[in-house]
Amino acid sequence: MAAGAVEPFDAVDVIAEKRDGKELSGEEIAWVIDAYTRGAVADEQFSALLMAVFLNGLSRGELSAWTDAMIRSGERASYPGLDRPLVDKHSTGGVGDKITLPLGPLVASLGAAVPQLSGRGLGHTGGTLDKLEAIPGWRADLSPEAIRDILAGPGAVVAAAGSGLAPADKKIYALRDATGTVESIPLIASSIMSKKIAEGTPALVLDVKVGSGAFMKDAGAARELAETMVALGRDAGVETRALITDMSVPLGRTIGNALEVREAVDVLNGGGPADVRELTVALAAEMLDAAGVKVTDDEVAAALDDGRALKVWREVVAAQGGDPDAELPVASHTEVFAAPRSGVVAGLDALALGVASRRLGAGRARREDPVQAGAGIEIHARPGERVEAGDPILTLHTDTPERVPRALEAIEPGVTIADEAPEPRPLILGRVG
Ligand code: URA
Repeated sequence: MAAGAVEPFDAVDVIAEKRDGKELSGEEIAWVIDAYTRGAVADEQFSALLMAVFLNGLSRGELSAWTDAMIRSGERASYPGLDRPLVDKHSTGGVGDKITLPLGPLVASLGAAVPQLSGRGLGHTGGTLDKLEAIPGWRADLSPEAIRDILAGPGAVVAAAGSGLAPADKKIYALRDATGTVESIPLIASSIMSKKIAEGTPALVLDVKVGSGAFMKDAGAARELAETMVALGRDAGVETRALITDMSVPLGRTIGNALEVREAVDVLNGGGPADVRELTVALAAEMLDAAGVKVTDDEVAAALDDGRALKVWREVVAAQGGDPDAELPVASHTEVFAAPRSGVVAGLDALALGVASRRLGAGRARREDPVQAGAGIEIHARPGERVEAGDPILTLHTDTPERVPRALEAIEPGVTIADEAPEPRPLILGRVG
């Protein structure tokens, strides 16, 4: 808007309408998001609007307009001229969730291209960029030309999202963090989908996590979030589906950056923990189907077992400056958490282990904190596995041993041992789309 021009709406009127449960018009929403992004609406006014949205929700029409305004606050990427379909995956975030690492190369090895633009979130454990940065030389900051070249070559890329992608979300997310308005389904859905739609992917598979280590603690809320995001994607012309998956226990047997890279490479070698392999194959099959590539689940699994996915991994790591043969960083100190008694592991709480892993140095408490590449937790016994008193259940890794007591404080209430094995819990709890 030109300097001195009169604003078409008054922020106080827009806030009061939403406070009173009225429906905002598309014009009001487009204006308030644009005006906040350029500084014409103050933080305290937008905070009040966010709280009104948190309490009263957004209708489907309001949510579409809200998401569209966030997309239009920045650029929309596109990759014309690629000879294979594009498809992406987004996870709402969980503990030990390293699935992106084997998934991109796996899907690329079967004929689609995967452009992953990732932010640096707060999360309990490091984000995807932190994990990959554990590989010596690997770089996340790529030009749009470099991203396109990697998509046209090996076919999978993970890069830092530039500041031009949905800048409104960056500003709004920081305010939500400071105003207790993060856990709102319409605000989470519009935040995630504005970035994914702006990323320019025509097909998208969402992994909506549910459980203690996820944003959504109960199955009903996770389904509502999945349905909301699928509808938003489809309204924007993106072929979108979602899997709803368990996050009450960490995924796999490692939490922490270099530890998770090692496990991802095991999966790419045809091994790795059964749950990580199962979810990687399920998400890859869903992505390939959304992209119009017809393959069976067995054919997807075969690309892990016969080295095709591993070959693409090595190529994409090298294309991003990394050395796929380099030794990964190892923490200088380890400490074992042993079983206090004999029995069967009944609970291994994802949130408890996520918090502990962050305290060991694998994640950040503030955006500017550094992460330790080698820090984290190895899991030796998962729910359902038998242990004798004194057997190692976890190994804690850190470069700063003085952090261990605080990590143990988080772990102790999260590990339970019982006489009987718990009911096995399915990993994939539902599907939307
Ligand atoms: N991830 C996002 O990008 N936004 C949210 O609001 C929550 C998770």
